Amino acid sequence: MNIRLLQPGEKPPYSLLLLADPSRHLVEQYVSRGRCFLFEKGKEVIGVYVLLPTSPRTIELVNIAVKKSCQGNGFGKRLIAHAIEQARGEGYRTIEVGTGNSSFAQLALYQKCGFSITGIDHGFFLRHYEEAILENGVQCRDMVRLAREL
Ligand code: COA
Repeated sequence: MNIRLLQPGEKPPYSLLLLADPSRHLVEQYVSRGRCFLFEKGKEVIGVYVLLPTSPRTIELVNIAVKKSCQGNGFGKRLIAHAIEQARGEGYRTIEVGTGNSSFAQLALYQKCGFSITGIDHGFFLRHYEEAILENGVQCRDMVRLAREL
């Protein structure tokens, strides 16, 4: 598994990043402030994650995505394991992540990777996204916040 940092001047893989977050504006903001890691199979980027420090001891996994045709093969779990190791190696104490109330698979995935729910940001997706987001027949309104100690 080859995971590397996006190099300065290299174009971020927006088609993947937008799978996790439909707001191009928000994606551009946190990609420019954080660090983007690329998972490559040969020369093709099939996965991505972005880490953004939010305090001296805390870092947030602000985006993670695997190309649709490659999902369900354990790559998401491996990317999260890599993000955890990366954050721990850099001396952070806590890694956080946020996902939608309607993102059932993601909620399962993060908890399988050792994250616990710490809170709910009520109405986050209503405040920050112009278009309604519907997943699993449920409107995405609230951000479920999760964290894992490192
Ligand atoms: N209920 C319970 N567990 C579920 C589930 C569900 N509905 N859907 C998936 N899972 C589990 C899988 O079973 C697997 O666990 P297991 O190994 O114990 O079986 C785990 O979640 C994830 O599997 P994995 O193959 O590693 O994930 P992936 O490569 O498909 O990547 C995402 C996961 C979320 C990165 C990928 O689906 C994706 O890119 N989605 C679109 C972008 C996105 O939503 N990003 C996150 C935004 S918060």
